[in-house]
This record gives sequence, C-alpha cells and structure tokens, in this order.
Amino acid sequence: MRMRRRDLLLSAGSAVLLPLLGRARQAEASETAVSLEAAPGRVQLVGRSYPATDVWCYGGQVPGPGLRLRQGERLRVEFANGLVEATTVHWHGLRIPNGMDGVPYLTQEPVAPGGRFVYEFDPPDAGTYWYHPHQRSSEQVGRGLYGPLIVEEREPPRVDRELVWMLDDWRMTPEAALVDDFDNFHDMSHGGRLGNTVTVNGVIAESEPVRAGERIRLRLINTANARFFSLGFTDHKPVVIAIDGQPCEPHEPIGGRVVLGPAMRVDLMLDMSGRPGQTFPVIDDFYRNSTYRLLDLAYDAGPPLREHALDAPLALPANPLPAPDLASAVRREVRLEGGAMGSLAGARMNGEFLSIEELVRRAKAWALNGEVAEGHRMPPLLTFRRGQSVVLEIVNDTAFAHPMHIHGHSFRVLSANGRALPHGIWQDTVVVNRRERVEVAFVADNPGGWMFHCHILEHQAAGMMGVVQVT
Ligand code: C2O
Ligand code: CU
Repeated sequence: MRMRRRDLLLSAGSAVLLPLLGRARQAEASETAVSLEAAPGRVQLVGRSYPATDVWCYGGQVPGPGLRLRQGERLRVEFANGLVEATTVHWHGLRIPNGMDGVPYLTQEPVAPGGRFVYEFDPPDAGTYWYHPHQRSSEQVGRGLYGPLIVEEREPPRVDRELVWMLDDWRMTPEAALVDDFDNFHDMSHGGRLGNTVTVNGVIAESEPVRAGERIRLRLINTANARFFSLGFTDHKPVVIAIDGQPCEPHEPIGGRVVLGPAMRVDLMLDMSGRPGQTFPVIDDFYRNSTYRLLDLAYDAGPPLREHALDAPLALPANPLPAPDLASAVRREVRLEGGAMGSLAGARMNGEFLSIEELVRRAKAWALNGEVAEGHRMPPLLTFRRGQSVVLEIVNDTAFAHPMHIHGHSFRVLSANGRALPHGIWQDTVVVNRRERVEVAFVADNPGGWMFHCHILEHQAAGMMGVVQVT
C-alpha cells in the first residue's frame, strides 16, 4: 500500500472570488489518498511453531492497512479486487454519501475480480471505525478482510500514547488452517460462527508493553463474525470515552467490564497505575465457563512517567450529530424473529410467504417484521422522509442476542426494557438481548437506501437484514 497526503489545490479562480474563505479552506482541506487491494494472502496468525494461515486480506496483511485521517479531511481509496470473487468495501459507522457505502446491488455494482472502484468521501465524525466487505460478508470478513479506519479529532484529548486493538475470532484446524465451513447452517441458525482462536491485531498476543504512569487511549474494534467480548483490565480502571466512534460522557463501565458485540468499537482511557516490572492480565469472561487471558499488560522496568495520573480532561469534543426531536419523532417497531428455539412459523421472502421448513431449505432462519432478506436488493423495511426524527423500537423475539447495525447514521440509545440509559450514548450497532426491547432515536438525514442488519454475519446471511429508505 502506498499512502500519501497532499493539499487540495484550489484553483486561482476560487481563491480570487473568496479570498478569506479560500485561505481558511486551504489551511484545512486536504486529502489522504491510498491504494487498497483485497487478495488472498498468507499470514502468521498463530505462533511461530505453527504454519502460516491462508487468508483473504487487504494489502497482504491482517488487519488491513490502518487508514488514518483528520476530521474534515477527504479520504480517497483506489480499491482493486484481487480476489477470485466479487466484493465491495463498506466503511462501517461512517455517515457518508450513499454511493460510497459499499453495499452490493443497493449502492454500487459489486467489484468483479480484477475490477476497481474509487471510494472518496469526507467523514463528518471523528472516531474509531473500520472497513470490511459487504459481499458474502460472513466468509469474506471471516477469512480476514478487515482493517481499522481512524478519524482524528481536530483537537484530540491529551494522552501519552494511543493503541488500536482489532479483536478477531477464528475457527482453525490444529494445523492453523481456517475451517472451511462458512455456510454451516447450525452457525447461521444459532449464535453465529464462534471460533477457537482469538487474535489481537492479527496475532495471538502475549503482552502489550506499557509504562507506569502513562495514559493510553485504547481503541477496541470487534471484527469477529459472532463473538462478543467482555474485557476486564485487572486492577486498572478503564474509562469509556466513546462507543462506535461517537463520544459519550466519560464513565467507568459496569463491573469494570468493557463489552463489545460484533462490529462494535469502544475507546478507553487507561491510566497505567501499576508499578514498574508488574504484569496484569486482560481477561475476557463474556461466555460463562470459558474465561481466558487475552494478553498481559507488561510494565516496563523503567521509572514511572509520572507519579500521579495525568490531570487532563477525558471527554472528547462532540461530533456534528443532529439531535432527534423526540416530541415530533415517528415511531416504528422492528421485530427480530426466527432462529433456533424461536417461534417463527414462516415469513415472506421476495414477496412470497414461505414456511419455516421452506426457509431452512434455502438456508434462511431469521426475519425482520416478517420479511427475510435474500440479498441486498429488496423493498424497504422502513421509509422516512429526509430530516425526520425517528424512534425505532427494536424488539427481540428470539432466543439469541443480536447486534443490530444501521448504515449511514448513528442512533442515540434511549432505553432498554423501558429503563432510560445514561451517559448520552450514540452507536451504530446496538446489542438487543434475548426478549429485550431497545429504543433508539436518530434523524434520518442521509438520503438513500441503507442496510439495517444483525452484525452476527451468519444471521445477516440467513436473512436478518432490511433496507431503511430515506427519501
Ligand atoms: Cu459492518 Cu452492514 O456492516
Ligand atoms: Cu443476530
């Protein structure tokens, strides 16, 4: 991959017409241009005593190249498809124009093998995002196609260091090959493709070197197809400052556990309060009876950077999100249905009512409001007038938790089971637990057709997806 930054060249004409504005823009506006290729690759996911693993990846690496730009800058990605099948790139969480959203058949034709596509957009929000295919995502993401996308604040908070941990979960054979059962219907109808190998930034991490007294901004990104994480930082007190890229009131998570459903991101502030030479495990205890150590925070033996925690504000500057007007908002319900141990008798697909047996024969298991998605092109599940405030009540009528994701917008998470939620949280992916009702609100201000789907990628493939149309 080659990356370059260049200043936007303003024509002499515009500089003459608007000299002051022109100059201000010139100082700020710039572009980050990158080339990005998706292709088969071979990487060392597990230890050196194992063979390398055949994957599909961006830029020959897992995770793909880190894309980083300043808020207000333009990103231009010249994408090339070196895979043997069609693909697209979706910029998860970014509120960008519909034509750049990377959804096959809905926002663009899929990029054929050997084909190219230029993605170009100005992300409005600072924060932690990621990119991945939206074509046959369960297999393409599951084989390693993903990378981080960081939009820096114009005035970032003071920290000593910043780290990104992209968490992933792989289903591997004892020879370190990926298990080739991406169409496993048990996964599709149950909790999705859970693996047996968790990596941080594409390796089984042993330790993260840290220094006593330093403040780290840790950006966590869950890229797993189906695994949830609940991270505990032994004897440390992480403070959540952003969820899904969007700033929230800085707060310590409940029980000190940082929970990430698939596709979610959490930004933490971590003051390294241990002593030189100490180690502290970071553990994941999301699933009962399968707690494990993700890695160790390993303190350098050198003297502390400072004696007391850094005295600097934790809060991030706000992003330009439109506040929904709850009084005038239209209310819609989205019912999550189906799956193993569910009560779905049948649902419509492509305008035809199919019994659950017929759906299963077509490898479908889930529905939204009685509609099963076959691909990405379908009549809208919900339609909103541009600029309308919306309250969605997401009702989980299934036996599984679902991380529900919307494209092109972020929503304010209002309540769960009628309980108002604190901390002013905005997300693009909200976990709706079994039998739970979650209310979210947003302004439908981004015109176009936007996917709304479960980010357990096997659930998405098995029908748990719809289109939100903003006209
Ligand atoms: Cu992360 Cu529809 O996507
Ligand atoms: Cu789901």
